[in-house]
Amino acid sequence: MRKKVSVVGTGNVGSALGQRIGQLDFADVVLLDTIEGMPQGKAIDMMHSHPIVGSHAKIIGTNGYEETANSDLVVIVARSKPLGTSGGPQASGGRNRLLRENLAMIKGITEQVVKHSPDCVIIVVTNPVDAMAWAVRHFTGFSKNRVMGLSGMLDTARFRAILAAELDVSVEDVSACILGEHGPNMVPITRLTRIGVVPVKELLSKDRLDEIVERTKIAAGEVVKKLKTVTPYYAPAMAIAEMAESIILDKKRILPVSAYLEGEYDMNGIFIDVPAKIGAGGVEHVYEVMLTPEEQSQLNKSAQSVREQVNLMKLK
Ligand code: 2OP
Repeated sequence: MRKKVSVVGTGNVGSALGQRIGQLDFADVVLLDTIEGMPQGKAIDMMHSHPIVGSHAKIIGTNGYEETANSDLVVIVARSKPLGTSGGPQASGGRNRLLRENLAMIKGITEQVVKHSPDCVIIVVTNPVDAMAWAVRHFTGFSKNRVMGLSGMLDTARFRAILAAELDVSVEDVSACILGEHGPNMVPITRLTRIGVVPVKELLSKDRLDEIVERTKIAAGEVVKKLKTVTPYYAPAMAIAEMAESIILDKKRILPVSAYLEGEYDMNGIFIDVPAKIGAGGVEHVYEVMLTPEEQSQLNKSAQSVREQVNLMKLK
């Protein structure tokens, strides 16, 4: 039987994700949104592309959770305000405003998801993503491995793309390591970032590398500045699809995701971006990278920002 992925929230990111999963053909997709007709229309449009791309995936659109029943994976992308009024973690008002706006919505969504798909794995995309992943895990009561957040896949893709353009090399041969919170507090570990087998620090001056790191940290903001009322969606959707594929096909890829820590990196009870084994069980293992004292101290600072958001939610 084909596997089922439900996408809750089918604005730009959710739609691009549905289309990508449909094209990759590794699961059927349910697009769920509150706007009447919108997910249904998008689903029909996507299905019409499948003879062209050679996909056998079924995509259906719905306004109700019944259709999501028994999903293997649920991706929560929804945000409480329409596009253009809320934005990513870099949007004005920042994380705390997003936190207030999205928390109540996340609770309602999570209850419905658990009711209809009690055995699913959940990927959280709603910002501020690390805190929202914490809230989703809290509301579901799921074991830590079954909830993860998008972040590292997207942040490292941006870092890799910028580095590849700078050095005029294939994006495929740039491997990057980013830990910590999603957004400007992320911690790119340049020591472990390589071009082929060559450490990037051997190819770029410290000043130039610092500039690239700073650009990566505000990459979403750079896109928002240009689009004005819309946050990025192509790269986020591709990143989520990669995570989804590893879960659905039990690929056990080592991907950077926002995962719940219990002792790793000397941290407990928070979600931050770390390298993890992603398979049918969700986050099957968190890998610890040996950090220098300075890197660990940057990571502690980044994690503290997530901890403050979790405390603000007053759910503990
Ligand atoms: C991003 O970084 C908005 O978090 C989203 O594109």
